[in-house]
Amino acid sequence: MPNILLTGGAGYIGSHTAVALLARGHTVTLLDNFANAEREVPDRLAQLTGAEILVVEADIRDVETVATALADQNIDAVIHFAALKAVGESEADPLLYYEMNIVGTIRLFEAMQKAGTKNLVFSSSATVYGQPDASPILENAPTRVQNIYGRTKLVMEDLGADLVRTGFLKGVVNLRYFNPVGAHSSAMIGETPSGVPNNLMPYITQVATGERPYLQVFGNDYDTPDGTGVRDYIHVMDLAEAHALALEYILQTPGALTVNLGTGTGISVLDMIHAFERATGRTIPFKISPRRPGDVASYYANPSLAERLFNWKAKLTVDDMCRDSWRWQARRAGINDV
Ligand code: NAD
Ligand code: UD1
Repeated sequence: MPNILLTGGAGYIGSHTAVALLARGHTVTLLDNFANAEREVPDRLAQLTGAEILVVEADIRDVETVATALADQNIDAVIHFAALKAVGESEADPLLYYEMNIVGTIRLFEAMQKAGTKNLVFSSSATVYGQPDASPILENAPTRVQNIYGRTKLVMEDLGADLVRTGFLKGVVNLRYFNPVGAHSSAMIGETPSGVPNNLMPYITQVATGERPYLQVFGNDYDTPDGTGVRDYIHVMDLAEAHALALEYILQTPGALTVNLGTGTGISVLDMIHAFERATGRTIPFKISPRRPGDVASYYANPSLAERLFNWKAKLTVDDMCRDSWRWQARRAGINDV
């Protein structure tokens, strides 16, 4: 079975993908600088999977170290998660995002070239669609980047495709994630937002623990069924499974492709609050607030390409997403009723 290196492998989506890869018999090396990951993650992964987890503590921009790791571990493919991902921060410090995301990816490509590693799965984002004309969104919809973070994702997608066209890489899959939420059902790994969460689910779970008094619902006057924003939330374990299948596909089928990863179903903010209350028995106080600048009313995926190519479909429900997000956050908060 292939040897896979995960940049950013100790982070939220990387750690869950490691579980999915190990379950399918792959060998996994995590490369992370631990800028946004807990040091205990590799140990927790080893405990959870019973597998040996190789860890390289390094920055993706350190070409020598990355190339050595790729060569020493006979890596067949890289899954590239390592990046900065906060939209607001990217607008406040564009050069930092160009450096970490774009330059970081170029350095990773240099290391891959040195080591002769020719296959890549890349974490992109549905944020590249910006304000879509309509949902469900297909991969050939126009890209309308609205912030620096989205810009870096689009540039990174294009760089990988160029390197396939020019023969430096064999296979690249750009995976455009919609809204990842949830955690492994063991509650041993999950998302750890630093500071006040920007995203809906981490905020809801912190209201549920009592860390925050109420949720602000950003706008109830959108052109959506209940007036609140609609998104395509996807359980991180479904997303993880998709990475494993995308990787197996690209190793067999050289080329460059871009694939949406979503459930295909739009869920409103109010739907999510009610689902969370139903799945966890906790009450989520909320207040309607003004719209958040830069927010889109509604977007959700057409995930049919992923189904056709990878034979993948999201299986977990909104209730699963809420239950597993809550288990993770409750455990961190020392709450034992789950
Ligand atoms: P995360 O912050 O939990 O994981 C990223 C990991 O990369 C962290 O462990 C961090 O320590 C590491 N890292 C960052 N910079 C590094 C560097 N220069 N060298 C080595 N390691 C570095 O984020 P995540 O939510 O797991 O996201 C993973 C990827 O998915 C990112 O590329 C992100 O842009 C993309 N993405 C995330 C979401 C989301 O909602 N979480 C949505 C769409 C796309
Ligand atoms: C945000 C990012 C996007 C990124 C995605 C990752 C912005 C503008 N966009 O998208 O680039 O790829 O996260 O998952 O930051 N909401 C509330 N109250 C809250 C938080 C959110 O009502 O406290 C609402 C939002 O208005 C939105 C929905 O919940 O309608 C989802 O918000 P969020 O989780 O932040 O995701 P996105 O806005 O889709």
